[in-house]
Amino acid sequence: MLRASVAILVLLSLSGVHGEDPYIYFTWNVTYGTIAPLGVPQQGILINGQFPGPNINSTTNNNIVVNVYNFLDEPFLLSWNGIQQRKNSWEDGMEGTNCPIPPGENFTYHFQVKDQIGSFFYFPSLAMHKAAGAFGGLRINSRLLIPVPFDPPADDYTVLIGDWYTKNHKVLARLLGSGRSIVRPAGVLINGKSGKDDEPLFTVEAGKTYRYRVCNVGLRTSLNFRIQGHTMKLVEMDGSHTVQNIYDSLDVHVGQCYSVLVTADQAPKDYYIVASTRFMKQVMTATGVIRYAGSNSRPSPKLPEGPVGWGWSLNQWRTFRWNLTASAARPNPQGSYHYGSINITRTIKLLNCRTRVNGKLRYALNGISHVNGDTPFKLAEYFNIANRVFEYNRMGDVPAVEEGAAAAILTPNVITAEFRTFIEIVFENPDKSIQSYHLDGYSFFPVGMGPGRWTTESRKTYNLLDAVSRHTIQVYPKSWTAIMLTFDNAGMWNLRSEIWERRYLGQQLYISVLSPARSLRDEYNIPDNALRCGAVVGLPLPPSYV
Ligand SMILES: *[C@@H]1O[C@H](CO)[C@@H](O)[C@H](O)[C@H]1NC(C)=O
Ligand SMILES: *[C@@H]1O[C@H](CO)[C@@H](O)[C@H](O)[C@H]1NC(C)=O
Ligand SMILES: *[C@@H]1O[C@H](CO)[C@@H](O)[C@H](O)[C@H]1NC(C)=O
Ligand SMILES: *[C@@H]1O[C@H](CO)[C@@H](O)[C@H](O)[C@H]1NC(C)=O
Ligand SMILES: *[C@@H]1O[C@H](CO)[C@@H](O)[C@H](O)[C@H]1NC(C)=O
Repeated sequence: MLRASVAILVLLSLSGVHGEDPYIYFTWNVTYGTIAPLGVPQQGILINGQFPGPNINSTTNNNIVVNVYNFLDEPFLLSWNGIQQRKNSWEDGMEGTNCPIPPGENFTYHFQVKDQIGSFFYFPSLAMHKAAGAFGGLRINSRLLIPVPFDPPADDYTVLIGDWYTKNHKVLARLLGSGRSIVRPAGVLINGKSGKDDEPLFTVEAGKTYRYRVCNVGLRTSLNFRIQGHTMKLVEMDGSHTVQNIYDSLDVHVGQCYSVLVTADQAPKDYYIVASTRFMKQVMTATGVIRYAGSNSRPSPKLPEGPVGWGWSLNQWRTFRWNLTASAARPNPQGSYHYGSINITRTIKLLNCRTRVNGKLRYALNGISHVNGDTPFKLAEYFNIANRVFEYNRMGDVPAVEEGAAAAILTPNVITAEFRTFIEIVFENPDKSIQSYHLDGYSFFPVGMGPGRWTTESRKTYNLLDAVSRHTIQVYPKSWTAIMLTFDNAGMWNLRSEIWERRYLGQQLYISVLSPARSLRDEYNIPDNALRCGAVVGLPLPPSYV
């Protein structure tokens, strides 16, 4: 049954047509507006007047059409965290793949949430816009015929948690541009609120079970999430159904999403949900209220305590397992499901480093501190003028200098990966602060993590059976994390630190995955409405993929 439907999908996509699947349409006005989530009025970025932005509720294989009108005074783009955009990096909304939407103009994203389920979010990808809002939840429900490995919850709630700055996004960008750090956030938010009032965020009925989709949409801080008096059953993370363990609290690193089921099985009153900072000397906390219907008793002021230290967090990560028997849309049904038995063809080791260039703070990967140009790399490649915009593979697969604050070169960091090869990527973080890495266009298997340096011996500790396939993974301080994946999605894909200061100052790169066939089977043509900018303005279209 599953196999047959996969075959049909393959046939449909061969023709480049996905008209049979339903379309859902959105028109979004992006504007500035005054918000005061920490009590201090500041300029926020709103979508249709909302902060956070509206939720997208979709079902596997839906076609999503979002017409985004940019009413800001700066170029703007949205990106879709964890949405794989199969064959379609044209819609990924990163500076290296799309031209920005100029002020006063609009761009319509068209994409299919193909073969995916679970909890995701969208965010503004340019400048420091993410510090001002324009993010929101994106959920993909399983199709009706596909069994979900738990009973339907009584309701389904999106919980966006994140650190927050009261400085304007342009001020933050200026700080970074002048070579300084944005330092610590001012607080933490849950769905745009810090919990100063006790108005309930969610209402529940005694005895019923609810799904909470918790995503960390912040700029730099890992957060611990917990609910006073209640345990949480983990059911999904980053779009994969997990083995359903019970947790008192969960560490959610920047860019990650978790779904938990929580049964309202306590005395019918109000309870706090809590998001508190991790790995910082001074803990900051946001609360929100869950109200049992009819309750008029305030929550107990005694908040459940969060964990201390990152060893706890690493141990928690080790308990995460993929539910191999749950049927669901799988990222790579033909290949990496049995990822442990595929031979690695290439290992890329990425050493992050913090450095100074001309006295200014920069961050680098293997000695390259990424900068964007005025032409997106994907467009330059498609129009065959890549050599005028960037040079491929400036960065080596292993760091040239193994330790510390090596000098960094400022240049576009675009590497190539051979189509359909199975690659191991090792992240080494010699810093004292935590890293979180995200890869667009794919989900990957985080097979191992540990303190110290990675060596080939570290492979003996890998989970080669049931690592949870996901899109964002943490690397603890002075530690390593290894991931594996098949590069079977042609396109130009951003690999970045989710720690926004690091990303902004160079700790990111693009991976160009080209199908030698130049065929619609592997990649879509540039969409008709694609914006043009930089060196591709006025160039004739190259021959289409067929
Ligand atoms: C978006 O802006 C346009 C132009 O100002 C306006 O006509 C439209 O009603 C707005 N839509 C929403 C949903 O706010
Ligand atoms: C989301 O979509 C699902 C499936 O179409 C539907 O059952 C559900 O009611 C929707 N939820 C919301 C909040 O719109
Ligand atoms: C802008 O919106 C118009 C009206 O819906 C649409 O026809 C057009 O394709 C959009 N522009 C782009 C570049 O997507
Ligand atoms: C995995 O999914 C299956 C199928 O839905 C379900 O029956 C089982 O309970 C799940 N296993 C665990 C350990 O969560
Ligand atoms: C993987 O490599 C081993 C050793 O080189 C070889 O024996 C095996 O056939 C390879 N497996 C696959 C699936 O290519």
